[in-house]
Amino acid sequence: MTEMNARHQALLDARYGAEQPKPDNIIWTPQVEALLNHKSVRTFLPEALPDGAIETMVAAAQSASNSSALNQWSLVAVNDPALKQQISDTVARSVPVDRIPWIEEAPALLLWVADLSRGAGITQDAGREPVVLDYLDSFLMASIDAALAAQNAAVAAESLGLGIVYLGVMRNIAKQVADLINLPDYSFVTFGMAVGLPDGARISSVRPRPAQPMVLHYNQYEQGRYRKYLESYETAYQAFRRRQNMSDKTWTGSVIESATSLEYLGSRNKLRETVIQRGFKLK
Ligand SMILES: Cc1cc2nc3c(=O)[nH]c(=O)nc-3n(C[C@H](O)[C@H](O)[C@H](O)COP(=O)(O)O)c2cc1C
Repeated sequence: MTEMNARHQALLDARYGAEQPKPDNIIWTPQVEALLNHKSVRTFLPEALPDGAIETMVAAAQSASNSSALNQWSLVAVNDPALKQQISDTVARSVPVDRIPWIEEAPALLLWVADLSRGAGITQDAGREPVVLDYLDSFLMASIDAALAAQNAAVAAESLGLGIVYLGVMRNIAKQVADLINLPDYSFVTFGMAVGLPDGARISSVRPRPAQPMVLHYNQYEQGRYRKYLESYETAYQAFRRRQNMSDKTWTGSVIESATSLEYLGSRNKLRETVIQRGFKLK
């Protein structure tokens, strides 16, 4: 096996775990290799981000496709330690832990905003009513675009040697975070992202994903096919958790908990209310 083949095999083994079937026809490029090597980082060094890191991430984010070229997202980059701490403390009060250390440790917290406020402003300045923005699709469009932008930024950050972790937990404090960063109506923090230099001494490894047949269908969705692949994914998932010294948990158990536990949902059970208060009507 050449060195390159060995590297590719190692990437696939990490992504799917030794136990699961893996595709043998991946078309490898340096970009594909980098994507397969992604892991969330929750332990950061205290160093500031290199100059230009945020702007580089935003240029990558702006290069993502966006719905109808309307540019309906914004980024609020929080690098003021006091504000970051305030947001971190507010989030921590919304979950059953005292602190979310990765927000505190990361030199920057990026808040990705689904932002219809510019569209509303431009339309109202022209003396028109932005009636379309009242529909669910407008909200979804801006949220999708914010996510695509964020993922491009994440890939750019990783290419710079930085690490990121997404923070959906920011929606637990949707109302408070909007106030803390002065968000206008018709905008909403979809999720946060902590970014910084990974602490190599405390880094986690690549988290395995289900075998491709669980998620990939050609032409017709084969309903229920996932059941055949649950056991081997469970084995890969458990092996990963053991390697990381994580608590005993099954993947299906986590899926069921996420679908049944209102505790898992946290204060996001009030999200619709908050989103509507922020100017969206979700018709
Ligand atoms: C939209 C979104 C929200 C997330 N929210 C959180 C979060 O609040 N806290 C956290 O620790 N990880 C969060 N994550 C990270 C996921 O847990 C992580 O991506 C997943 O476990 C897969 O691990 P990996 O990114 O290392 O491959 C989030 C990921 C996404 C895409």
